[in-house]
Amino acid sequence: MNGLKLVSTGSAMPKGVVTNEDLTKIVDTSDEWITTRTGIHTRRRCGEGESHTQLCLAAARQALERAGIAPEAVGVCLIATFTGDHLNPATACILQKELGFPEDTVCFDLNAACSGFVYALHTAQCLLAAAPRKFGLVLGAEVLSRVTDYTDRSTCILFGDGAGAAVVEWGEDYPSIHAVLGCRGDADVLYTPGVNAEAPSYIHMEGQSVFRFAVETVPRCISQVLEQAGLGVEDVDRYVFHQANQRIIDLAMRKLHLPPEKCTGNIAHTGNTSAASVPLLLDELVSTGALRSGQRALCVGFGAGLTWGGALLELK
Ligand code: UT7
Repeated sequence: MNGLKLVSTGSAMPKGVVTNEDLTKIVDTSDEWITTRTGIHTRRRCGEGESHTQLCLAAARQALERAGIAPEAVGVCLIATFTGDHLNPATACILQKELGFPEDTVCFDLNAACSGFVYALHTAQCLLAAAPRKFGLVLGAEVLSRVTDYTDRSTCILFGDGAGAAVVEWGEDYPSIHAVLGCRGDADVLYTPGVNAEAPSYIHMEGQSVFRFAVETVPRCISQVLEQAGLGVEDVDRYVFHQANQRIIDLAMRKLHLPPEKCTGNIAHTGNTSAASVPLLLDELVSTGALRSGQRALCVGFGAGLTWGGALLELK
């Protein structure tokens, strides 16, 4: 068996905090509605002088520093995102130059929306197996405020900005991440129009349809990862859910009888940060000692595509 271990994590958040109270001043909503329907209290928003690239660089630097590895040791640099500063070059290419990765480091951005970080972990595992250097830098980063319609109360209360990073290491005697990835092409219930759009490119979401999709897909995905790995629910130390809605997490937790203390999240102060949400939570768990060396986290993402993905990560 060969696979990945998580070596270190990092994160970066914009300075600006947007409270539920702030949102009541721009759309017809209330703190009570947002809190009870989503679990969100605050989210971060990039302001003047802050950018997607800066968030990525800060999160990446922190993760690399904590890993204690030189840039020359990095074989793969992947960023899961759909809100980079440019359509091209990929933000990962900018990191190559800024952080000094060798020119044969495989660097690209990947768009699998909110499942992106898990897709990127699987891609990193595959690429690192063939790479000359065995460390990978994997990020999830979004500036969703750029594609959020602040006149639409059904979406603008959800989204936030941020970047999470992970240094992973491939090893012949390391466990496979046992990724389970899926996609059900559906461009109607959750989408962001592209560069050809006539109207501004905002996220459109039919919340209830996506909610039903998530409640059906997430528990199944977790069960499939566990089955593939030959593990039981109790063998996982932390379940790291994409932070889209606390009610989705609660329903998945109940369905699979997961202990609530293994499923704590950070949606209350991050909101939904799409591809950044899983690595941001991973970083919080590692930084606070809630996920420790030798322990196992099961990461699960779901979102536009519609896509979903689950994978196991053991902390080195
Ligand atoms: O990250 C990618 C994946 N995304 C997700 O997983 C999101 C999944 N969906 C959700 O989390 C939920 O569907 C939402 C949080 C988006 C919406 O919650 P809901 O409980 O499904 O609300 P709803 O859309 O059924 O709306 C219920 C009512 C409606 O009013 P009426 O028709 O009952 O009078 C909405 O107009 O709530 C109204 N509403 C609001 N009221 C106050 C919708 N947004 C708001 C709001 N404040 N911000």
